[in-house]
This record gives sequence, C-alpha cells and structure tokens, in this order.
Amino acid sequence: MLFRQQGRSLVVHTPAKLNLFLEVLDRRTDGYHELETLMVSVGLYDTLIFAEDLSSHTHLRVARREAPSLRSQDDVPAGAGNLIVRAADLLRTHYPAVRSRGVRIDLYKRIPVAGGLGGGSSDAAATLWGLNRFWNLGLSRQRLQELAAQLGSDVSFFLGPTAAAVCRGRGELIEPITLPLDLHFVMARPRSGLSTAAVYQHCRPAESPKRVEEVLELLQHGQWGLLGSKLHNALQPAAEALNPEVPRLKRTFARQPVLGHLMSGSGTTWFGLCAHRRQAKQVAARLKAISSDHVVVARSRP
Ligand code: C5P
Repeated sequence: MLFRQQGRSLVVHTPAKLNLFLEVLDRRTDGYHELETLMVSVGLYDTLIFAEDLSSHTHLRVARREAPSLRSQDDVPAGAGNLIVRAADLLRTHYPAVRSRGVRIDLYKRIPVAGGLGGGSSDAAATLWGLNRFWNLGLSRQRLQELAAQLGSDVSFFLGPTAAAVCRGRGELIEPITLPLDLHFVMARPRSGLSTAAVYQHCRPAESPKRVEEVLELLQHGQWGLLGSKLHNALQPAAEALNPEVPRLKRTFARQPVLGHLMSGSGTTWFGLCAHRRQAKQVAARLKAISSDHVVVARSRP
C-alpha cells in the first residue's frame, strides 16, 4: 500500500496480485475451499482518494479515465454491492466513534475487474487501511486483517506486512515471504471475466495435491527458468471449461518467449513470467498486435 497526504485528503495506491501457485486441497462444509496459494503483489494499482463528506455515509465515485482500455464489462458498482462501501460500513458497525462519519471516496480503476487479479479485494483492503488512518481509529494490522477476512478471502493478503505470501485456509491465513529479486510479468485480460464463485463451484479438490515448497525453493534461489515450468493453478481446468477466452489465452501464451505462463486466481487473466522487463514489454507488444485483450506489464513489489 502506497499513500500520501494531499491537503486534507488521503491518497492510497493499492496493488493487484498474481497467484504463482494455487492448489485446491479440500471442499469445506462452509461452502469454501481449503487452499494453498502463493500470492505476489505487482505494480499495477487502483487509486483511492479519501476526503471528508458532510453526510453520514460513504459516497463512492468511480472514475476510469486512466484505463481507457477497460471495457463496459468492467463497470464497477458504486453502491452497497461494492466491497469499498462494505468495508467502510464494517468499520462503522464495529466502532461507534465513526458510526455517523461520512466519507467521499474517489476510485481510479486500473486493475481489471473479475480477472483474478484481486482488484476488488485490494480496494477493500485499501479502504480498511485508509479509513483507519483517515478516521484515526488506531487499529493494529492484526485487527484490520480480522475485519478483512469478513469481507473476502483475499482481502487480508493486501494488508500483510510483505508484498508476497503463502496463503492458506480459504486464503485468509497469511505466511509472509520475501522475494530475493524482482519478477517481471506480462498480463492479458480478455474481454470477459469470470465469477470466482462459479469457478470454485466447477473445480475439483486435488487427489494428490501439489505443494508450494518446491516453487518457494526455486523462487528463493532465483531459478526463474525452472520456476516457470512449476507454475500451477488448480482452478485453470474449471475456468477453461467456463470461458473459451481462457484456453485461447493459454494457446497464445504457449507461443510466446516467456519462462512460464499461467492463469491468475479464478481467471480470466493470463500472465507470463519473463526473464526481464525488456522481454515483458516485447511480449506485451506482440499480444497487443494480435488481440484486443487488456495487456499490461508489471513487476513484483519489494
Ligand atoms: O471470499 P470471496 O468472497 O472472495 O469468495 C467468493 C466466492 O468464491 C465464495 O463465495 C466461494 O464460493 C468461492 N471461494 C471458495 N473457496 C475459497 C475462496 C472463495 O469456494 N477459498
């Protein structure tokens, strides 16, 4: 989370994530799935600007001017359905001191919606983090992460102390890790997204699950080439069956000079791990030339 005070407003930049590894271990009785996933936050940001509002509710305004290639499917709800509004309401419910505090939040969307990049979760985390500061609540990271887990499985990750983590449980149990070097990625989000719930509904827990340790080891030793061949996402078959854009992207990335490639989260974004930024930019240029996908280059965050 990057932030700066701008007069009386607070500006927060909150990142997207990629899953370099995701295994589905079990289907739980509460409707969720038990996971082991390696999440890495990347330098593609939504921006939230918090300002005083004389009302007693959250006034969310969504601007998309900085990401003209996002399409109508990427429309973000500005009402109670938005996780930002739900995050602010959650704080008001738990803390009487801010129960009648209004806030205006301007959201500048750059992270594609329903793309498996955690944009909605990241916005929710930024709201908890930003309002904790803006309203002087003084909540600890641990308390913010507890609240985050009530909003969604991925939200806690974005409040973690590190930019990368192994996440377990339904995704909310965070084991921080440090990346030794920057990783470079090219990402492509097709015209349509996928509903996370639908993808999980169609997935099958692994009979002999892969474990994250091998990927972590390669990561720690900077063995990018081997790492590329070990990327794994157990949600991929379900996403491929649900949206033909997903297998199309898989075929497209298989022809690119990348170290490895994978779908992120529940899709539909596909990403390539690249040897360096120049390669990521070259692949991005090729992808832009042959498709109308939303193509972005980003590196992992320190
Ligand atoms: O937690 P979140 O609201 O992001 O999850 C959206 C949906 O994805 C859940 O309602 C559930 O159907 C599915 N899900 C799951 N197992 C997880 C995370 C999400 O089944 N670990």
